[in-house]
Amino acid sequence: MTSTDGETKTFNVNVGLTVMEIGRDELMGIEGICGGCLSCATCHVIVDPDWFERTGKISDDEDEMLDMAAERTPTSRLGCQVKMTDDLDGLTVTVPDEI
Ligand code: FES
Repeated sequence: MTSTDGETKTFNVNVGLTVMEIGRDELMGIEGICGGCLSCATCHVIVDPDWFERTGKISDDEDEMLDMAAERTPTSRLGCQVKMTDDLDGLTVTVPDEI
């Protein structure tokens, strides 16, 4: 995960944690103000294009909330909606400057 100040860190995490929880708890610049209930977009991350498909389908609610993110990109996700699985071992995301 790359933070807003350009620092890149790698984490060993438990399956089931969300990207928001990881980035918030590891002080990578993710706030996660709403706790994951899709009402804040302060968990916006930009997923590396090589990983984007594996993060799953974006729900209509997530899509609407992402539209409120200032720096939305084609590989943007809300970190609270991406749960770590064995298939996401190696997932690479960047926290945009907006947060
Ligand atoms: S933590 Fe609020 S939308 Fe993800």
